[in-house]
Amino acid sequence: MERLIKERLPRHVAIIMDGNGRWAEKRSLGRIEGHRQGVKAIRDTVKAARRLGIKVLTLYAFSQENWSRPPKEVRALMRLLKEYLEGELKEMLDNNIRLVAIGNLEDLPPDVRRTLRETIRKTRSKNGMVLNLAISYSGRAEILRAVKKICQDHSKGKLRTQGITSEVFSRYLFTNELPEPDLLIRTSGESRISNFMLWQIAYTEIYVTDTFWPDFRRKDFIKALLDYQKRERRFGLTRRQLTG
Ligand code: IPE
Ligand code: IPE
Ligand code: MG
Repeated sequence: MERLIKERLPRHVAIIMDGNGRWAEKRSLGRIEGHRQGVKAIRDTVKAARRLGIKVLTLYAFSQENWSRPPKEVRALMRLLKEYLEGELKEMLDNNIRLVAIGNLEDLPPDVRRTLRETIRKTRSKNGMVLNLAISYSGRAEILRAVKKICQDHSKGKLRTQGITSEVFSRYLFTNELPEPDLLIRTSGESRISNFMLWQIAYTEIYVTDTFWPDFRRKDFIKALLDYQKRERRFGLTRRQLTG
């Protein structure tokens, strides 16, 4: 903690929270118990991020592909999501946290969608940290959706072909108003992206830890941040250009 340099903290940290199922299997528990413990890790991590002064925390909670898991597991995840939102509202308000969400939110069960919408509305004016939940999210679907919207605006004459720059394209994504992630953490040792923020992570620093998500705590978060602070982000330039 003391070794963290406040001025060099990532502005936006994104986490692929993986390994709930394996955490449970290792203990001969059902996968759903793993997800339940995973919620505790979420609470801990949100609190840590807020205290440390992270401005945006994105949590990949449920991918579009995750809908194809056994219906019982999907139902449990939806129930846990709703309970989490209901249970954490006060904590978010007290800690000045604004909730936002990205993904195909129309696919959510109506009651979950309603709770999500309400939580977003009630925390709208909070500005201490943005907690961004990626739910029913797919990076490819997000890009396709942006392309379709751009085509519509183009045919309406609102956008010219030359006007489609990286900056303009970014504004058509779900993450429109958010900065790109500086640090991406994936738990459970898998070194893959799993359809997450394909456009936004072009220059994101990636950190993989073997820790399963339900075991992830403040100390693991700080370890990732310390690792990030040791790195030199060059964005295609040479070291001399950066330091000179
Ligand atoms: C992450 O844990 C939670 C979700 C994807 C919803 P997993 O459920 O993927 O756990 P593993 O990868 O099977 O261990
Ligand atoms: C990625 O984890 C999605 C979330 C963490 C929500 P998965 O467990 O679904 O990804 P794969 O199947 O290992 O790539
Ligand atoms: Mg997994």
